[in-house]
Amino acid sequence: MSVKIGLLGFGTVASGIPFLLKENAEKIQQAAQDTIEIAKVLVRDDAEKERLEAAGHDYYFVTNVDEILADEDIQIVVELMGRIEPAKTFISCALEAGKHVVTANKDLLAVHGSELRILAEKNNVALYYEAAVAGGIPILRTLSNSLVSDKVTRILGVLNGTSNFMMTKMVDEGWTYEEALKTAQELGYAESDPTNDVEGIDAAYKAVILSQFGFGMTIDFDNVEHKGISTISPDDVAVAQELGYVIKLVGDIRETASGLSAEVSPTFLPKQHPLASVNGVMNAVFVESIGIGQSMYYGPGAGQKPTAASVTADIIRIVRRLKDETVGKAFNEFSRPLQIAAPSDVRSEYYFSILAPDKNGTLLQLAEIFNAEEISFKQILQQASDGEQAHLVVVTHSMSKTQLERVTSTLAEAADFMLQNTFKVLGE
Ligand code: NAP
Ligand code: HSE
Repeated sequence: MSVKIGLLGFGTVASGIPFLLKENAEKIQQAAQDTIEIAKVLVRDDAEKERLEAAGHDYYFVTNVDEILADEDIQIVVELMGRIEPAKTFISCALEAGKHVVTANKDLLAVHGSELRILAEKNNVALYYEAAVAGGIPILRTLSNSLVSDKVTRILGVLNGTSNFMMTKMVDEGWTYEEALKTAQELGYAESDPTNDVEGIDAAYKAVILSQFGFGMTIDFDNVEHKGISTISPDDVAVAQELGYVIKLVGDIRETASGLSAEVSPTFLPKQHPLASVNGVMNAVFVESIGIGQSMYYGPGAGQKPTAASVTADIIRIVRRLKDETVGKAFNEFSRPLQIAAPSDVRSEYYFSILAPDKNGTLLQLAEIFNAEEISFKQILQQASDGEQAHLVVVTHSMSKTQLERVTSTLAEAADFMLQNTFKVLGE
């Protein structure tokens, strides 16, 4: 008897699962100690069912989720529809019905993960979601299993395949934003609403999940500051290159003396930093820990087969645990009370792009503003001037978020200065 699974949704990721189950059948059977059968597939409506059947998919398609939830033969429900609702309701019902759940839905897990994990525990069923962070990179199990003896102090990650693909195409190959986004969508990298990809929201969801696995703390999504790639201008890219940096959208989660800080922002990475060469749809998670030191986990962050591989691995693990009668163990057992870092403890170097009048005393005035907040300059340069307005670039030495807030509001109030952009700079 095979273990029967029900798929909720049959889009980019879900339609990659049958390929892997077939292609690697022998290996999967050895690992799972059983065969796996896709018993039913939930699709949106009859038109979609007919379209898929006409395309040659001969699954038992259903349009009512109850046909899966009430089917006692189905032991594992695999949710790959995305978004919060109805995914949350369907997953909750599946867990309550004693079914194990696999999902790649980071939106849902980042916002309602605690509730769902409690429900899974209460019903003694598994809730696995390796694919929710960095697609094909097996980072969550690495953090909870392989790094179990280590203390993680910081996680830096290129965590969104779509935005990294877009940035690479725009910067290296001169594509327009629209061309790059359209191709990312065609390649199956982007979310159904790509706003989450380009505005840093998707990466912030992943930062929430990484905070649990890396630091045992469930940070609220609202506590993860996020800024996306739409805030980066061609000028910023050119200055970064001139100064020896590459700009990438980076998630940064770290434990300070007062607690945890997590944010997602365009970041200046020194060209020699391992994350600086993570291009295209590739993601990487760079972990600093007291035992291993620095380690980086690299691979495709989005796309059908890489993501389906992570989802299928979760399914196989559940099937094997059913066989071994050990199913129900939490995906991540590391948990401690949340403490949020004080802004004065969260320190970085920063880049400031400022427009100012091209006249005597401007630089002195700027230096005085920074000096008043005890921020020192690491680099300062005048980029261009039309004779009246100059483009000034400042890279600071390490400063705190408190100092950043203060200097930013002083610059906003200063009549002579127009702050165009501020990004974090990763020190060498
Ligand atoms: P997708 O291609 O948009 O597939 C989702 C499918 O679910 C669509 O066919 C959609 O139908 C269907 N669906 C949505 N709501 C439904 C409902 N109520 N009833 C029945 N079917 C419904 O998305 P995807 O890229 O496969 O992503 C699936 C999940 O994996 C998401 O949570 C995503 O964030 C996550 N993920 C994706 C990737 C990736 O590379 N794509 C990587 C990691 C994680 P309609 O088209 O009619 O809406
Ligand atoms: N849209 C997401 C990305 C999918 O581009 O990274 C993987 O989570």
